[in-house]
Parts: sequence; structure tokens; C-alpha cells
Amino acid sequence: MQVTKGDVPLLEVRDISASYGHVQALKPTSLHVGEGELVTILGPNGAGKTTLMRALTRLTASKGQILFRGDDISGLPTHKLARRGIVMVQEGRGLFPQMTVRENLTIGGYLHPATVDTQMTTVLELFPRLKERLSQVAGSLSGGEQQMLAIGRALMAKPQLLMLDEPSLGLAPRAAAEILGTLSELNRRGIGILLVEQKAPLALKLAQRVYVISLGKIVAELKTDEIKSHHDLARYYLH
Ligand SMILES: Nc1ncnc2c1ncn2[C@@H]1O[C@H](COP(=O)(O)OP(=O)(O)O)[C@@H](O)[C@H]1O
Ligand SMILES: [Mg+2]
Repeated sequence: MQVTKGDVPLLEVRDISASYGHVQALKPTSLHVGEGELVTILGPNGAGKTTLMRALTRLTASKGQILFRGDDISGLPTHKLARRGIVMVQEGRGLFPQMTVRENLTIGGYLHPATVDTQMTTVLELFPRLKERLSQVAGSLSGGEQQMLAIGRALMAKPQLLMLDEPSLGLAPRAAAEILGTLSELNRRGIGILLVEQKAPLALKLAQRVYVISLGKIVAELKTDEIKSHHDLARYYLH
């Protein structure tokens, strides 16, 4: 059984920053995700959203402190974060296009070989469309199906915190809504979610809390039930 530690957040980030050469693309930034929370990072193109997600998962070198359920995990490499239950669906999905749906999912389950079959059943219940296409190569799927597969593969690692970098990017509105609806369902099942999104209406519909990022730093933190209209956001975020 998971031991919970009172009010300790699932993820707490203190003053994380990252640079490309001499350019500090991410200025010292602090944020948190509570147990069972769905939090969105909203911001325009080039604001530093991907840099933040990559800094958090150690795909980009970063400074600052990262705590997961109170444990300092700042120095851990990406694969060890996955063992702790922190898994990211990257921008652009990162699938193996020549491999089948089943192979992509199986690879995602490498940390839990004994439960690959049961976990795959769970994932295919969530995404029945993938079940019909298990033998199809990932590269031949539609954009929406590829995003489902990328999320499905991440779920095979049994995340406690699922991070997603613009999963709606490039998708038709209906496919985007379907993907984001699935994230709500996963959140209801108890998975903490940190979602990067550029589309304010979608982000506000899903999230309990929103951070607005602009020019490499968080400029606002808003509870979505306190935002009466999208105009409230315009002070921070013009899109
Ligand atoms: N590999 C890189 N090398 C140099 N600059 C980068 C690199 N990746 C991103 N940047 C710059 O860092 C800033 C933030 O980019 P990014 O995190 O990708 O923004 P977002 O995901 O919000 O669109 C941008 O100015 C971008 O040009
Ligand atoms: Mg990005």
C-alpha cells in the first residue's frame, strides 16, 4: 500500500531553470502538482513549456530542486524517474513508427514485465481503437491514434504522475477533445497529470489549476473555478 505523507504534494518543483548555451530559456520556476490533481501549463509558442517538461524529466540539464512525494529526486536520470512513476509523453510522440502497436505498447511495459498482459488489457479498454490495430505499424496510424498509442505506451509504465507535452498538437478538434477526455478519465482513476497545452479553452475545461508561462517563467497561477471567463486570462496570455 502507498504510504501518503499528509499534505506533501505529489510533485514539488523549486526554482528549476535551464539554459541553451548562454540563453536561459527557463528562468527559476516553482510549481507543484497535488495528489490526484490535473494541472495545466498554458503558454504561447516559444514560452518554454517543452524546456520545462524536459528539465523536469532530466532530458535537458537543469538546476533546482525536484521533490516527488517529499523525496528529493533532483539528481535522478530519466529512466530512474520512470521507476519512481514519473512518465512523460513527449511533444511529437516519440513512437517507433516501423513497429506495431503491440510492440510499442510492450516496450512501454519494460519496467513491469510480469504485468505486461494485464496492463495492456487496461490500456486497450481505454483505447478500443488501438485494439483493432494491434498488428498495424505505428507509422500508419492517424495522428489521433498515434497520440493514443503514445499515451497508452506511457501507461504501460504504470505512472503515478503522467506528464504530457501538447498531446493535442496537430490534431483535429474532435480527436483533441477525445484525447483530453481520456486524460480526465485517467485523473479520475487517481493518476496525477501535468499537461502542457497551448489552447486555453481546452486547458481550462480539464484542469483544476493552471500555470501560465510566458518568456521562460511562470507569470500566473490560477484555479480554474475562479476564472469566470477567458478574458480573465488575457491579462497574462494573449492567443
Ligand atoms: N535545443 C535548443 N537550443 C536552443 N534554443 C532552444 C532549444 N530548444 C528550445 N529553444 C528555445 O527556447 C525557448 C523555449 O522553447 P520551448 O521550450 O520549445 O517552448 P514551447 O514548448 O513553449 O514552444 C525558445 O525561444 C526556443 O527557441
Ligand atoms: Mg513545445
